[in-house]
Amino acid sequence: MSKPSDQPSLRWDDHAIVTLDQRALPHERRLLRLNTVDDVITAITTLAVRGAPSIGLAGALGVVLSAYAHCSQGGTGDGQAAVRADAQRLAAARPTAVNLAWAVDRALAKLGDGPDAVLAEATAMIDEDRSVNRQMVAHAVRAVLDRCPQRPLRLLTHCNTGRLATAAVGTALGTILALADAGKVTEVLVDETRPLLQGARLTAWELAEAGVPHRVCVDSAAAAAMGQGLVDCVLVGADRITARGDVANKIGTYGLAIAAAHHNIPFIVVAPESSWDRSLADGRDIVIEERAADEVISYGGVRTTPRGTRAYNPAFDVTPASLISAIVSEHGVHHASEVSA
Ligand code: MRU
Repeated sequence: MSKPSDQPSLRWDDHAIVTLDQRALPHERRLLRLNTVDDVITAITTLAVRGAPSIGLAGALGVVLSAYAHCSQGGTGDGQAAVRADAQRLAAARPTAVNLAWAVDRALAKLGDGPDAVLAEATAMIDEDRSVNRQMVAHAVRAVLDRCPQRPLRLLTHCNTGRLATAAVGTALGTILALADAGKVTEVLVDETRPLLQGARLTAWELAEAGVPHRVCVDSAAAAAMGQGLVDCVLVGADRITARGDVANKIGTYGLAIAAAHHNIPFIVVAPESSWDRSLADGRDIVIEERAADEVISYGGVRTTPRGTRAYNPAFDVTPASLISAIVSEHGVHHASEVSA
């Protein structure tokens, strides 16, 4: 029987993109069929498809949809201009994860060779992401074991960085699953990850699917758990990493890094090379997506705040390199102190 990670989170199927609707999990396993560029943009902005590598792959396949729609009779100037306009809209669907613009640009670069070439590039990117996942996880497992003498380990993670967020096992969560597979994990503490609960809904679902012992905690319990000695290592993913190793990731990551540093707990970022943006040195230059107030002032469609309450809802924060023990990619381990502009 194939493992869940053998099934990519999204695939090309007869001129459409097929993906799991992450908004419906864990209650319903609903497949989405995305037929147009607008479908793809809606799926990305509503987080039906989410996680930096996954939105990149969806964006690349969105360029394929556009190429077949506008250039299937050959690439006239007007058709190509329409695809370029679609590519720009796709790349702008979410601003923080650099993987999105990177993947859209890479697919678009093949437009001159026709839609089939764009499709070949996008599907090659899916295959590449799968092998990148495997290499990254192998390096990250070693990085954790080198830094954590305790056995077995109690790990803490934030948001969702597993197979839903990539084309294979994932980044930080892929590493946790590999460590668990090797019998080295007692328990994973999963931050629920307010406001959209990617930890509670998605990471807990993936850990349950893999049979790994875990508990979900509210985000504000993470520092207390570290203080009580319940955490040996924190593992997270990334949406954008600057030349000097500042890391944008799901809101709440920065606070975890501060708490981990205070308690002398290794804080490890696992992310592919495609999450690096070496055009930026300082994390303060990363554009942070600000999302709708509704996500904070209500829960499950029910308002939880007084009428008229406004919200501060950044989707990501930036953790400075100085708080990070190691950043791991498919090329190996970068110590934060070795990562310089
Ligand atoms: O808003 P989301 O759910 O797309 O945020 C995702 C994260 O912050 C992940 O940690 C990151 O994209 C890495 S996914 C391997």
